[in-house]
Amino acid sequence: MKVTVVGAGAVGATCADNIARAALCEELVLLDIKEGIAEGKAIDMMQTAALLGFDTKITGSTNDYSKTANSDIAVITSGLPRKPGMTREELIGINAGIVKGVAENILKHSPNAIFIIISNPMDTMTYLALKSTGLPKNKIIGMGGALDSARFKYYLSTAIGCSPNDLQGFVAGGHGDTTMIPLTRLATYQGAPVSNYLDEASLKKVAADTMVGGATLTGLLGTSAWYAPGAACAAMVKSIVRDEKKLITCCVSLDGEYGQKDICIGVPVTLGKNGWEKIIDYKLNEEEQAAFNKSADAVRSMNSVLSTL
Ligand code: 2OP
Repeated sequence: MKVTVVGAGAVGATCADNIARAALCEELVLLDIKEGIAEGKAIDMMQTAALLGFDTKITGSTNDYSKTANSDIAVITSGLPRKPGMTREELIGINAGIVKGVAENILKHSPNAIFIIISNPMDTMTYLALKSTGLPKNKIIGMGGALDSARFKYYLSTAIGCSPNDLQGFVAGGHGDTTMIPLTRLATYQGAPVSNYLDEASLKKVAADTMVGGATLTGLLGTSAWYAPGAACAAMVKSIVRDEKKLITCCVSLDGEYGQKDICIGVPVTLGKNGWEKIIDYKLNEEEQAAFNKSADAVRSMNSVLSTL
């Protein structure tokens, strides 16, 4: 198994680190356009192998895509990250060109790769990757929902006072501060609805904190977060390479599911050796479906910017 991670910034390097530590592939290539950065980080990570006991061989490359040849999975993190006060959407102009170029270069050397898109605005970048590569829709997967759902469980766990591992819950819709939909009605603590433990106001606060989870960190860190994005990506890679069929909310192309078409947006999917394999129908209620439609409208209007670039 071979995985390429494009972009050796904090997010890309953390993805690579998590993938290697869990020994999810034999070969891992980290690639960046900045001279030496991918090579340096790859060697630094390889020097943890004897301490952590993993056997993944990590190599770095400065923009030489031939090194990525025959990758099974390509993770794209390239592009500018958010700065404090910036929305993910403001990055579209610059990141669209970068993501398109990267996807084309990967495809030239790895025609069978499954793509995981992390670059922002993630829903639009996933749509762009789908259109520009022409790959089957199951091979293009955006990472947002996996991350947002983990943040949702974090805020739920602090409000309930329980382990995040005892919670089930998902965030659907777009990966934007106003487009994501934390589905509090469907979240459970060991099988019981979280509304058994939290009142309406607390649930509303958990949802609101989740929606600005990325922006809160950008404010604290001065740039966007990397630990949870890296771990979310590694969980997706794990389900694909081990064919686990785990149910993870990801940004995928819809063809009528959830009442939407010609859009990539977050819904629960199973991930296995073929990429995303099955969309699970949550059976949204009227209010949730209205929020989903509104989220889709916002993502679609962002996608329409692509044709003006
Ligand atoms: C975040 O929400 C990087 O978009 C990512 O932190």
